[in-house]
Amino acid sequence: MGDRIFHKIIYTDSSESTNSDLLTSSYEDKTILYTFNQTKGRGRLDRSWENFKDKNVALSAVFLEPEINPVWLTAVFSVSLVECLMKYGLNDCWIKWPNDVFVKDCKISGILTESQWYNGRIIKSVTGIGINVNSDKNDLISIERPVTSIYKEIEKKIDLNDFIINYIEMLEKYFKINYNPVMAGIKEKWMEYSRVIGRNASLTEITKGSTPVFGTVSHIDDDGYLYFNDGKSVFKVITGDINIL
Ligand code: BTN
Repeated sequence: MGDRIFHKIIYTDSSESTNSDLLTSSYEDKTILYTFNQTKGRGRLDRSWENFKDKNVALSAVFLEPEINPVWLTAVFSVSLVECLMKYGLNDCWIKWPNDVFVKDCKISGILTESQWYNGRIIKSVTGIGINVNSDKNDLISIERPVTSIYKEIEKKIDLNDFIINYIEMLEKYFKINYNPVMAGIKEKWMEYSRVIGRNASLTEITKGSTPVFGTVSHIDDDGYLYFNDGKSVFKVITGDINIL
């Protein structure tokens, strides 16, 4: 047990947001905080994340002065989830770069990495993941975009505690292999599960308005940038909305 990455794993009955808790309080490096009752979950771009009490999982981990680019924290969380979902018999799981996990056309999980900076250096990063485990059709219908859950896919209720144990084991596996500055290994998995390399895609860069550009994705570099070729030039992006055509 001594060589585990995550030394402290804390369950809480309820939290407004496990990311906010870890960001605003002093927790030891590589503490995991999770709940089955997150009441004000936050997503990217000021969106909210719906939890559905005692049906789904909200889990966050804190990294003090992370040795790796935080983009790889997101990558390890998503690759670990894809492999965990495959163990539950979900076959068609993939990563919608940079931070969502999908089953076929429906989102099953979202990841949010947030960092605090001081004097030009990251002093704390928190990565949080929300996973739809047991929510049913009636819950999911309230969400405007196409979403799914493990239950909806395999029609079997999952024990949330077992799920947490399995997911944390997968995180341990990938962080053990990858928690070094090079992140050997995770990039290949991330590219494989993202299913974007060499594909025709549209890219919408949120910061540059909503006009999509069309082209192909060539590769992802060691800093997590995705290289997009629009036929005129190759440029790199760190975030955006990629849709495979
Ligand atoms: C997204 O889809 O835009 C990302 C959703 C991230 C949700 C998780 S749930 C655990 C952690 N706590 C939060 O408030 N958000 C993240």
